[in-house]
Amino acid sequence: MFHWLEKHPFFFAVAVFVMIAFAGLVEILPNFAQASRPLIGTAPYSTLELAGRHVYIKNSCNACHSQLIRPFKSETDRYGHYSRSGEYAYDRPFLWGSKRTGPDLMRVGNYRTTDWHENHMKAPSKIVLDSIMPAFTWMFTNLADINTAYAEQLTVAQFFTVPYNQPVPMKDGSTKVVKMGATLADANALALAEAKVVAADMKDQNVKDAIARGEIPEIVALIAYLNSLK
Ligand code: HEC
Repeated sequence: MFHWLEKHPFFFAVAVFVMIAFAGLVEILPNFAQASRPLIGTAPYSTLELAGRHVYIKNSCNACHSQLIRPFKSETDRYGHYSRSGEYAYDRPFLWGSKRTGPDLMRVGNYRTTDWHENHMKAPSKIVLDSIMPAFTWMFTNLADINTAYAEQLTVAQFFTVPYNQPVPMKDGSTKVVKMGATLADANALALAEAKVVAADMKDQNVKDAIARGEIPEIVALIAYLNSLK
């Protein structure tokens, strides 16, 4: 049978297609059994978190970090529950990544804190000895682009249902409301209020001064985003 297939390229191609289609189904079908999509506990990103996500993409963090925990004990011990499809409902685009030069960041919000990130992003090798992660010092002075994040929210909301301004169910049975501004000025005010909470746990004087002026440095948005990864 296999010898016969090897001599008939057309049927060989058909057999390969059938095998790949079957393997694909085996991977995809179990996801349909999940009770809810988006998964309970998955909330949309706030404007500030989205701006932080843009900083993450702009600096190619995803070239060294994955956001996808595989269902192996070594991974779940290190990072937490393996990733499920319903957790990516609001990720556009996905940041799964294809290479782990550094650790996975899917649930980094569960075990790293704002001040840890602040020190680490400024000088990774001072926090983790011999770390090869580059320092991202410019994020402490560059300003986050809230306007673009808001534009993205408005655009996405035209094509997809994103539950802003309404209760989203959380794992512990409570609900969470992620607010989206009705106008650009609103969105900026909401982002600044959220940024103040994050910056309260930070030490950098440039960051504190910027927040006092009503400006949001990129690092604050980025940390808000990293903290949201749970
Ligand atoms: C050149 C590859 C590289 C790039 C680019 C990179 N990192 Fe890293 N990252 C690493 C390595 C290696 C580590 C492990 C050593 C360490 O903790 O510093 C790491 C660790 C981390 C950790 C600690 C995770 C943990 O569980 O301990 C965080 C958070 C992180 N990186 C965030 C980022 C962010 C955000 C960016 C983009 C602004 C970024 N990294 C860009 C290589 C990289």
